[in-house]
Amino acid sequence: MTYEVVVIEGDGIGQEVVPAAVAVLESLDIDFEFATADAGDATKEATGEALPAATYEAAANADATLFGAAGETAADVILPLREAVGSFVNIRPAKAYPGVDAVRPETDVVFLRENTEGVYAGHEDRLSEDLSTLTRVVTSSASRELAEYACEFVADGRGPDHRDGFTVAHKANVMRETDGRFRNEVLSVADEHGVDADEELMDAFATKLPLDPSQYGVVVCPNLAGDVLSDLAAGLVGGLGLLPSANIGHDNALFEPVHGTAPDIAGEGIANPTAAILSAAMLVEYLGHVEAGRRVRDAVESVLSDGPRTGDLGGSATTDEVTAAVVDRL
Ligand code: NAI
Ligand code: MG
Repeated sequence: MTYEVVVIEGDGIGQEVVPAAVAVLESLDIDFEFATADAGDATKEATGEALPAATYEAAANADATLFGAAGETAADVILPLREAVGSFVNIRPAKAYPGVDAVRPETDVVFLRENTEGVYAGHEDRLSEDLSTLTRVVTSSASRELAEYACEFVADGRGPDHRDGFTVAHKANVMRETDGRFRNEVLSVADEHGVDADEELMDAFATKLPLDPSQYGVVVCPNLAGDVLSDLAAGLVGGLGLLPSANIGHDNALFEPVHGTAPDIAGEGIANPTAAILSAAMLVEYLGHVEAGRRVRDAVESVLSDGPRTGDLGGSATTDEVTAAVVDRL
């Protein structure tokens, strides 16, 4: 079986870390056919469009897509790309690794973020010079779909080992109708599946997570809350260069490092490829090659603990040196 993977480097260090991730994929015993596609600031300058229709179509029809980052045009690229793959859940693991300086070395959490609605559904209006409004969208169907995914995720043992079940973070005490619906649906799906689920008000969670991250494993969130809380967790584990993410759809998915184009270091060949390589590991797992995904992850962890490291982690290695070390240890 050959998998068709669309590769979109984008701008800045996307052009450095995505080739690193592709090099790791190529060293695995899996048949990939890579098709490159364009998006981002440079593409907009050249063609007038940040996300050409051909790239959207390619992502929509591929087995999976690997994306780097886009600069100013990030929102014009990522939101439509998530739509192209029909993504209903954004998976964002935040794990501290041995050998990496982390604010909270015991952090090992995976956020499952609703990826289609909430306040990001985009119904904003300017009603007068003084007044703007936003309509928040929450459906039972999207909430239940996310919860079904979360139940499968924990049943498959994909969450951190130290915690069973999942936590749902919400603010249903204030947003009784919207977050109330989200909370009730998620907890009722967990109950139907016999999955152990507890709940936290999202503001209290934002205090408790940095104080004691070991209490949490898989965390299920509405869209905006998941965006903010996963970035908070990112801050606990030692830097943006380490965090991968996946946008999962029904028969399609998009994988991307959490970081942006890093204009301050772009073009120097010193970006940390870890986030992009871990995104590639998630891609491999999504395609069903769970063992190969684990091997990539183990190789990355091994390099992080005693191999060459890039400047963001206090080392002086290049992107290529770190990538070669990962491939070497696979
Ligand atoms: P950023 O993630 O690009 O950079 C923040 C800081 O982290 C910088 O100091 C950078 O050098 C460092 N950093 C990030 N990734 C790194 C890596 N792999 N290795 C070493 N250091 C790394 O975020 P920033 O500066 O807020 O945004 C820069 C541009 O990226 C903006 O134009 C923004 O719109 C875009 N962006 C795009 C995203 C995407 O396409 N998914 C996400 C976030 C930002
Ligand atoms: Mg964010």
